[in-house]
Amino acid sequence: MKLNVITSNPGKVEEYQRCLEGLGIEMVHLRVPYDEIQSSELEEVVRKGMDELKGMGISDFIIDDSGLFIDDLKGFPGVWSAYVQKTIGNKGVLRLMADAGNRDAEFKCCIGCNIKGRDIIVTGSCKGIILKKEAGNGGFGYDPIFSHDGKRSFAEIPMDEKNAVSHRGKAISLLIEEMKSKL
Ligand code: IMP
Repeated sequence: MKLNVITSNPGKVEEYQRCLEGLGIEMVHLRVPYDEIQSSELEEVVRKGMDELKGMGISDFIIDDSGLFIDDLKGFPGVWSAYVQKTIGNKGVLRLMADAGNRDAEFKCCIGCNIKGRDIIVTGSCKGIILKKEAGNGGFGYDPIFSHDGKRSFAEIPMDEKNAVSHRGKAISLLIEEMKSKL
């Protein structure tokens, strides 16, 4: 069967294709703008997005929303991670953290999948710390300032290692488990 991956990021379509082709599912990239409501919960953003897309008559699709939640900043940038990355970027986040005593942070990824008339919503997370300075040339977004092992940033480790521990990798594994048990 085919699943529409609704995103403006073609890299995500490939990632889902790689992970889900073992289930015989073919991914189709669909660009449909939908509202990402203001909420402090990723799952609420995803649920509302799914309702809006279903209201447009779209079915059999995947959407997702991710964010970096920093303890010392009371969960900021969280659901505003994309905006903060585009505006103040990693250097701005490090400035906000200059006097932070607690550098704990968590990446979260919520995936919403409408398939065969059912909704599956799963969230994966990855705990770590915000490093004191940027490190590494790989990855994207907040990867140079986030470390899951307290030593190397996500931008310094191989992609396979990141996928095995990352919020998105874990959310995709949960999605596969749900699909296998419910469909
Ligand atoms: P999105 O919801 O997947 O578009 O992610 C929101 C923002 O969080 C993006 O603009 C990225 O900057 C950031 N982000 C999400 N996942 C990752 C990741 O795995 N590494 C680094 N940054 C990420």
